[in-house]
Amino acid sequence: MRTRALFFLLPVLLPVAFFPVSISTDTIALGASIAGNQTLVSTGGVFELGFFSLDGARRYLGIWYHNISVQTVVWVANRQSPLPTSSPRVLQLSTDGRLVILDAQNATIWASEPPTTNLNAGAAAQLQDNGNLVLSADGSGSEQSVAWQSFDYPTDTLLPGMKLGVDLRAGITRNITSWRSATDPSPGEYTFRLVQGGLPEFALVLDGATTVYMSGPWNGEVLTGVPQLTSNADFTFQVVSSADETYYTYSVGVSTPLSRFFVNGTAGQVQRYVLINGAWSNFWYFPTDPCDYYAKCGPFGYCDNTGQAPTCVCLPGFVPSSPLQWNLHDGTAGCVRRTNLSCGGGAGGASASSDGFWVVSQMKLPEATNATVYAGMTLEQCRQVCLSNCSCRAYAAANVSAGVNSGCVIWAVDLLDMRLYTTVVEDVYIRLAKSEIDALNAAANRRSPSNKRVAIAVVATVVGVLLLLSVGWCFVWRRRRWRRRRQGEADSSSAPAGGDDLLPFRVSKHPASDEDWKSAQKDVDLPLVDLAVILAATDSFALNKKIGEGGFGPVYMGKLEDGQEVAVKRLSHRSMQGAVEFTNEVKLIAKLQHRNLVRLLGCCIEEDERLLVYEYMHNQSLDTFIFDEGKRRSLRWQKRFEIILGVARGLQYLHEDSRFRIIHRDLKASNVLLDRNMVPKISDFGIARMFGGDQTTAYTMKVIGTYGYMSPEYAMDGVFSMKSDVYSFGVLVLEIITGKRNRGFYEVELDLNLLRYAWMLWKEGRTMELVDEAMDGSVNYGEVLRCIQVALLCVEVQPRNRPLMSSAVMMLASENATVPEPNEPGVNIGKNTSDTDSSSLGFTANNVTVTEIDAR
Ligand SMILES: *[C@@H]1O[C@H](CO)[C@@H](O)[C@H](O)[C@H]1NC(C)=O
Ligand SMILES: *[C@@H]1O[C@H](CO)[C@@H](O)[C@H](O)[C@H]1NC(C)=O
Ligand SMILES: *[C@@H]1O[C@H](CO)[C@@H](O)[C@H](O)[C@H]1NC(C)=O
Ligand SMILES: *[C@@H]1O[C@H](CO)[C@@H](O)[C@H](O)[C@H]1NC(C)=O
Ligand SMILES: *[C@@H]1O[C@H](CO)[C@@H](O)[C@H](O)[C@H]1NC(C)=O
Ligand SMILES: *[C@@H]1O[C@H](CO)[C@@H](O)[C@H](O)[C@H]1NC(C)=O
Ligand SMILES: *[C@@H]1O[C@H](CO)[C@@H](O)[C@H](O)[C@H]1NC(C)=O
Ligand SMILES: *[C@@H]1O[C@H](CO)[C@@H](O)[C@H](O)[C@H]1NC(C)=O
Ligand SMILES: *[C@@H]1O[C@H](CO)[C@@H](O)[C@H](O)[C@H]1NC(C)=O
Repeated sequence: MRTRALFFLLPVLLPVAFFPVSISTDTIALGASIAGNQTLVSTGGVFELGFFSLDGARRYLGIWYHNISVQTVVWVANRQSPLPTSSPRVLQLSTDGRLVILDAQNATIWASEPPTTNLNAGAAAQLQDNGNLVLSADGSGSEQSVAWQSFDYPTDTLLPGMKLGVDLRAGITRNITSWRSATDPSPGEYTFRLVQGGLPEFALVLDGATTVYMSGPWNGEVLTGVPQLTSNADFTFQVVSSADETYYTYSVGVSTPLSRFFVNGTAGQVQRYVLINGAWSNFWYFPTDPCDYYAKCGPFGYCDNTGQAPTCVCLPGFVPSSPLQWNLHDGTAGCVRRTNLSCGGGAGGASASSDGFWVVSQMKLPEATNATVYAGMTLEQCRQVCLSNCSCRAYAAANVSAGVNSGCVIWAVDLLDMRLYTTVVEDVYIRLAKSEIDALNAAANRRSPSNKRVAIAVVATVVGVLLLLSVGWCFVWRRRRWRRRRQGEADSSSAPAGGDDLLPFRVSKHPASDEDWKSAQKDVDLPLVDLAVILAATDSFALNKKIGEGGFGPVYMGKLEDGQEVAVKRLSHRSMQGAVEFTNEVKLIAKLQHRNLVRLLGCCIEEDERLLVYEYMHNQSLDTFIFDEGKRRSLRWQKRFEIILGVARGLQYLHEDSRFRIIHRDLKASNVLLDRNMVPKISDFGIARMFGGDQTTAYTMKVIGTYGYMSPEYAMDGVFSMKSDVYSFGVLVLEIITGKRNRGFYEVELDLNLLRYAWMLWKEGRTMELVDEAMDGSVNYGEVLRCIQVALLCVEVQPRNRPLMSSAVMMLASENATVPEPNEPGVNIGKNTSDTDSSSLGFTANNVTVTEIDAR
């Protein structure tokens, strides 16, 4: 930590006009002021407040990051009333409790809103480490004493902890508006704000009038236009909607790099930037693809980007309202009903019962600004409400996390701004004439009249056989164990107990209920474990049985009745992303068998529970050894070398030897588990991706993984391939050899991170200085040098220069293999897209580069 701090304090690089002299305080007392080049610095040294000028003509009061070298202003006080740079400048906390900016004539250029509570003599304004400038009535800085705070008046940036939305009690609306240009903080064209109406939803608005993009209504779980955005350890967000306030807010993990979310007027986007290796990198942004643009396919149309190109499609029962325009790929006119609703003509006479509903479930919910929310009703009641109201066009659950009485949202307006996803987001019930419903049903049946029956028969047979097989397998397995145990025991005469009890896991008669699961289930021939068995094994998920926290839920240690130890991974409730990843993991890992991959023994999908049962790893994960002062001494070179080889072989199997091409995407020390004999097993396939045929590269918008292990092209551009895993492997090898974390290591005097430091020593022929001194005596120099050389090859900038895992394994394992000279390693600085196959997978439309949205 200290080394890091020193690095950040190096002042030489910083432009003086931007980073003026700071005074060593974070507080202005009542009546006091700061002037000229003086600034406030928050106690932890994270943020700084003072005057700045970016164009040399106008000067502003603002808050920026104190300890990073890229100029990043996150808040501006006097956006609309700059001071000329020639003018003296003073920020004063006036005795009436307002922050005021004074010019040469002591005239007030800007003043904050009056304090909301009475101040006492100790009142003071303090710059906090979260970037909030807080006027506290008693100087304590406590939440109750806040009389004014900069977080209530965001400019273009939403920092972690800030809120975007309305506070009705305080009468405050918080939105963020882009800067006019990179050097002009005055309000620009784009605003991102809460749209109030039926369900909370956020919109990017141009010139205060034109909606460019909407986040999709909040359904209690996700913003339905960004279903892939869910909370994780690095990033947690909330949408709160109560009688008093409605807002969006987010927070980041303690070890997550600096993050900011802001409106970029140049790009016309909201963007989340993350500071990686001293540079801001664009982590995600919206709108992302053509389908994200507001109402792209008009009323009753939806945008489909799940195929080759974004296309407008009419909802079932609707046809293009302007076929010519539609065929020219302009969908904005939307669609109209093929058949009028029976009570839609305004006559009001026809019976409502002759309309029905058709469900679509993989959609961004229609814009809900003018929709009506009925709280507390069941969906059946909603259906009745909709049927009895002639203007009702569709309904959906209003809050999917509220259970049965989810309430509903009813659209009595045109359905706008829908798009199709590859995953279920939420069911939307579209009202159609009875004849249309019949036609749709008939069409669905016609599509595969006999095929369907055959398919059902085949599926039934396969499921039956699988069931028998797994029962049989379980039986044999248990029987063998039982026999083995019996042989070891003195008494071998007593017969086994009843049949059911022979199975380690009873086959559940009630598999999952939801669709997602059914489809996943089909591919997987895994034993289903009874929930009761797991509850017994883990003492009903007792806290003291918890051994870790995976990407999407806790992991428990359990002991089955027969004494076998297992690790149980439990998907946290209501995590949609988690559900997708969970299914992903089951599908992937059930098909994989390798000594260096962790083995899945069974799964449980009863009621709300989604559980994976693994073999238990007695020695936990690699990071608990190599980064632990005491334990790493027990890890001699020979063991470390075996671990390196084991991980390499496991990865090679994933990439090249299994029937599928699998990219792990999150290889790191904590995902390498060690069994009783310290054999390494790669685990956590939650975000792994399977590639079909000869596909070798893909894009993702949602860069997930772990900083420090991510290759530059993946972290920066979301491009991943086998070679991004190879990069992570290279980082891991260096960590195993040095006993130091790549992320967190910093050589201050030389200004180098672990990779560059390793590279420098390599070039200077001092490679052995890298070796963890905890291994002293046990080291085989030839092997260590070869490992470091291979690791440096693996972390090269250009993916094409990194070896495949098969050749890495060969180079590592064979003394006689020739290992090429490595080039300088790639560290996530600057964009470098020259080596990506963007032409084959990305495409452009409307000048927007399309990247694949990771929604599988
Ligand atoms: C503020 O900094 C500038 C640039 O270094 C310098 O010219 C100026 O004299 C300083 N002003 C004060 C009041 O210290
Ligand atoms: C710089 O900021 C980082 C991130 O908030 C923080 O961890 C670190 O301690 C800061 N360094 C100094 C010198 O304040
Ligand atoms: C501005 O106020 C300061 C302090 O109150 C005072 O010393 C100074 O003379 C004033 N300047 C003008 C131009 O009034
Ligand atoms: C943003 O908020 C401000 C202050 O509450 C308000 O005046 C402005 O109209 C809002 N802008 C938009 C586009 O909603
Ligand atoms: C705004 O976005 C553009 C394009 O993504 C980028 O080049 C630019 O650096 C961004 N602006 C800021 C202030 O980050
Ligand atoms: C459907 O309704 C529209 C207007 O509501 C009307 O103009 C049209 O004639 C109706 N079509 C049929 C076939 O009834
Ligand atoms: C919602 O209703 C308001 C008021 O009637 C109208 O101005 C606005 O255009 C409507 N918005 C949509 C998206 O239908
Ligand atoms: C029909 O539903 C809309 C929206 O929920 C509502 O505004 C309207 O008053 C309802 N009409 C009747 C007749 O209930
Ligand atoms: C949705 O339901 C959950 C669970 O009942 C509740 O905690 C949450 O506040 C609700 N959200 C909204 C927006 O009403």
